[in-house]
Amino acid sequence: MAEQTLYERIGGVNAIAMVVDRFSDQIVKNPKLLKNPALAAWNKSGQLPSLKFMRTLWLCEQAGGPFQYTGKELGQAHKDLHILPEEFDEVGAEIARALDHFNVPEREKGEVLAAIVARKAEVVGQPA
Ligand code: HEM
Repeated sequence: MAEQTLYERIGGVNAIAMVVDRFSDQIVKNPKLLKNPALAAWNKSGQLPSLKFMRTLWLCEQAGGPFQYTGKELGQAHKDLHILPEEFDEVGAEIARALDHFNVPEREKGEVLAAIVARKAEVVGQPA
């Protein structure tokens, strides 16, 4: 029998959406991340519901789910946010905590985090 995809093993779109919902809500109230003025300003823009949707879509595609991510390229999406390497790592820590919150097993947790870390160079930008 073929090996199940990460998407199947993790529990499909609802499991991914719950994880995204959780870490997205934690990110907007994380004091380390609120020090970034571009992020603090973005948080007041009222676009969190659509960002949760786009993050869910991206993660579903990455995990091998039956979806196609049609949003912006990651470099383009983050260039005006001037994200520092340590801010990227803090977001990674929030994602890890959200995966733990929902008791995602170590193997699947590691695979999700690896997919995130692999894109660090695209997301981290020049300081403002
Ligand atoms: C590999 C890591 C990351 C992935 C996979 C990712 C994924 C995404 C996606 C899919 C979008 C939506 C693009 C669109 O609307 O077309 C987005 C935008 C955004 N991301 Fe990330 N992101 C990552 C890292 C980060 C980090 C570290 C932060 C810092 C808190 C962040 C904050 C944001 C914000 C605020 C937006 C909205 C930008 C806008 O509306 O102009 N992301 N990201």
